[in-house]
Amino acid sequence: MDDRTDQSSRIIDMNQASPSRVYDYLIGGAYNFAVDREWAQQAIERMPWIREAARSNRAFLQRAVRMCAQEGVRQFLDLGSGIPTVQGVHEMARRVAPDCRVVYVDNEAVAVAHSVLTLENVEGAAMIEADMCNVDYVLGHRHIQELLDLDRPVALLMTASLYYVSDHDLVAKTVARYLDAVPSGSYLVLSHTTLGSHQRDAVRLSNVLEMTKTLTSAATARTPEWIGDLLTGLEVVEPGLVYTSRWRPDGLRVVDDAPWHDAVLAAVGRKP
Ligand SMILES: C[S@@+](CC[C@H](N)C(=O)[O-])C[C@H]1O[C@@H](n2cnc3c(N)ncnc32)[C@H](O)[C@@H]1O
Repeated sequence: MDDRTDQSSRIIDMNQASPSRVYDYLIGGAYNFAVDREWAQQAIERMPWIREAARSNRAFLQRAVRMCAQEGVRQFLDLGSGIPTVQGVHEMARRVAPDCRVVYVDNEAVAVAHSVLTLENVEGAAMIEADMCNVDYVLGHRHIQELLDLDRPVALLMTASLYYVSDHDLVAKTVARYLDAVPSGSYLVLSHTTLGSHQRDAVRLSNVLEMTKTLTSAATARTPEWIGDLLTGLEVVEPGLVYTSRWRPDGLRVVDDAPWHDAVLAAVGRKP
């Protein structure tokens, strides 16, 4: 895979909806096409709370990045970073510590093109166009070499991205390999969609998961146990593996009767 930064070399498919552009639309961004908005509208018809689920995931990411920065982490590797229209991880982290460095990784053309543009004049942050499962390529990339010191703690962000990788073994190996590459004191920030009969709106969620087969990458829901195993060997910080909105909410009160609480599980683990 080459290190392409020339946007004209990227193939942007405007005829098929993509996870990054649909998600961008759902969280209020403007970097999406008609095909993405149509897909999202159909998904909203099937599951009216999908927008809240997406926003709840993004808000979890923000709180987890803030926590890592407050714990002293100054380096972030955002794997499956998406389109940072609303707020990029470097902006979230630098609210706590302005010297935070961030490397973004995504394999979707619009996410890459937009991030490259956004980061053009931003010191200490860069975008890598890659499949995040290609761990050797990502870790060997010059942006990692130049911006991140892998002898010092890194926050590995894998939020709402691993479920677009259908191969279970590949997901587990990918997570393990990134964790192997970073030292003690590093963090794994994880969120992943889950589906089970215990969920309040399981039928609607299952319908939307079925719909994702028409996206450029389909989503694969996994059980809480399977997702929890990705955290093996880590010290999982309080409150553990919970639905995104229950992970250290900013407000005093968690509104607990809405079904989007059940769509995506989240956790943060510290490498001992
Ligand atoms: C739903 S968005 C999540 C964005 C962001 N991580 C967040 O939580 O707000 C999923 C992103 O993962 C990216 N993605 C999916 N599979 C990927 C892969 N194998 N390698 C790199 N990026 C991937 C998609 O292109 C998309 O931008």
